[in-house]
Amino acid sequence: MRTSRSIHALLALGLATTAACVGGTPGGDDGTGDDDTLVTDGGRYTVADCGYDIVTVAGAEAPAPGADVLGASPAPYQVHLGFAGDPATSMAIVWRTDADTTATSVRFGEGTALDQTASGVTFRYIAGVGGVGDVVRMHEAHLCGLSPDTAYSYQVGGVGDGGTESWSTTYTFRTAPATTDASAEVRIAFVGDSRGGYDVWADLAHEIESRGADLILFSGDAVTVGQVQDEWDTFFTAAEDLLATVPIISAHGNHDLNSVNYYSQFVMPGDESSFSFDYGPAHMVVLNDTPLQASDIEGKIRTFLSQDLAANTGRPWTIVNHHRPIWSSGTRHGSDQTLLQQWGPLIDQYHVDLVVAGHDHIYERTKPMNADQVQATTATGTVYVVSGGAGASLYGTEPDYFTDNAESSHSGIIAQVRAGQLQYEAFRPDGSSVDTMTMTK
Ligand SMILES: [Fe+2]
Repeated sequence: MRTSRSIHALLALGLATTAACVGGTPGGDDGTGDDDTLVTDGGRYTVADCGYDIVTVAGAEAPAPGADVLGASPAPYQVHLGFAGDPATSMAIVWRTDADTTATSVRFGEGTALDQTASGVTFRYIAGVGGVGDVVRMHEAHLCGLSPDTAYSYQVGGVGDGGTESWSTTYTFRTAPATTDASAEVRIAFVGDSRGGYDVWADLAHEIESRGADLILFSGDAVTVGQVQDEWDTFFTAAEDLLATVPIISAHGNHDLNSVNYYSQFVMPGDESSFSFDYGPAHMVVLNDTPLQASDIEGKIRTFLSQDLAANTGRPWTIVNHHRPIWSSGTRHGSDQTLLQQWGPLIDQYHVDLVVAGHDHIYERTKPMNADQVQATTATGTVYVVSGGAGASLYGTEPDYFTDNAESSHSGIIAQVRAGQLQYEAFRPDGSSVDTMTMTK
């Protein structure tokens, strides 16, 4: 557990530094009243207690420990959760303040206690197309050494020079069960494509919150243009009650545009682009199907998928989450032949149980598939789901031979996953049911 003592060891570590600016006019008016030059090459910081590095991308500063400065508007907002390590023993808390605030601390504890403190890191990035726009101040705190399957309370904020304090309201989160807990059951929400439809997204977030979820897998396209901060602000604010209590992990969508905003606001494992993690009885693989280099789909991402699936022998269920659907009867995009050719054979070879995507703004669940052949049961086939109904304007669907159930509606999914059974319900923002599915093995 990180305590204030170990924070000092963390702060003693050397920091990555950056030297150059990229794009735009970082020395110009950034909308904050500051006129200083913002260093924007990204950088790396080692979180000693967690055993991993935090990396920021071009357009953002290197992460650095906070200081005792509270700006004019230091109240934390857009508080949300993610993780970069084992979700059974770690959690990352992310929040915003005004650009001048560098105080970056968390008070937390098991149950309702707030008897521990941890320091975080902070960095700024330039929001906006071409690196021109306002400066966004981010704060991240990474809590490691937590107990599995345990509820915690927390507040984020900090103490300024002179002792003035600024703290958020108190939120809670729960760590994932240990992978050694054979009786564990987790609830995983699958949603995607909120862009432009944030009232629906807010309703869906409330529905997910009321049903209860341990983890949110977002399949991309949170916003219409990844560099437009106003949209991200609306996305995070609309669902803050949910996102401050349930970690969100995103697959990158084509509208997210590999933007500095995307990589700065989510905290996710590995390179935050294509990665995997275990969550209770599920092995989750998240893939970027619109990488900066398109050739990575058949190159390093395919290699990652192959090696990851080959190494996964311990979890009862394997779930892949990405953005562009391999199988879809959506009339806008439909099935993605490139991904079918490049990733489909690996999904078949390692018998992935469930593949969830978005991109087509519909709900769809296929029959069990192996290559392009419908299978009688999931014993030999993979179920592909499109859950792209988190708010964006709906597309049509023309059910195809592979379709088991499809509907053009705003919707999301919560899956209950335990050893031996994966059961899910898809539902509309008003709570009405779209579809259910049960898999056993
Ligand atoms: Fe998309």
